[in-house]
Amino acid sequence: MKRNIILLAITFFAASCYYDKADLVYPVAASCDTTAVKYSTTIAPVLTASCNGCHGGTAAAGAGIVLDNYNSVKTYVTNGKLLNSILQNGKASAMPKGGGKLDNCTLSKFSSWINQGSLNN
Ligand code: HEC
Repeated sequence: MKRNIILLAITFFAASCYYDKADLVYPVAASCDTTAVKYSTTIAPVLTASCNGCHGGTAAAGAGIVLDNYNSVKTYVTNGKLLNSILQNGKASAMPKGGGKLDNCTLSKFSSWINQGSLNN
């Protein structure tokens, strides 16, 4: 009996590990192209569509956090909050606030752009 409980615990632990990894390794459809991600054509349009209603320059709803220009976006990339907020991993406030999480392909594009140095391209 005790052995069964231990096995059960191990199974749960393994399952949750697998889930975490699957989340990271297989998050996106094969049709999701993360190779040529650019600030101007990929990142900025998502921010405009999903974030800048609150984080655009004159909007009051974004608590002073402005994401409508590269330099300001870069600040939140560098301090880790941008990615953590959209990944909704508990390390920053989950964004977009009050809205649905961005889809996995879009999240992969943000990761890819950041991994490539978050250039102003
Ligand atoms: C409905 C308004 C609204 C939308 C839409 C929104 N935000 Fe926010 N965001 C806020 C508010 C308000 C705060 C500050 C209070 C808080 O942390 O909840 C904030 C905080 C943040 C922070 C700082 C988080 C921290 O923990 O310090 C980041 C980064 C951020 N938002 C990014 C985004 C991104 C990226 C999007 C789009 C995917 C987005 N936000 C969409 C309202 C919004």
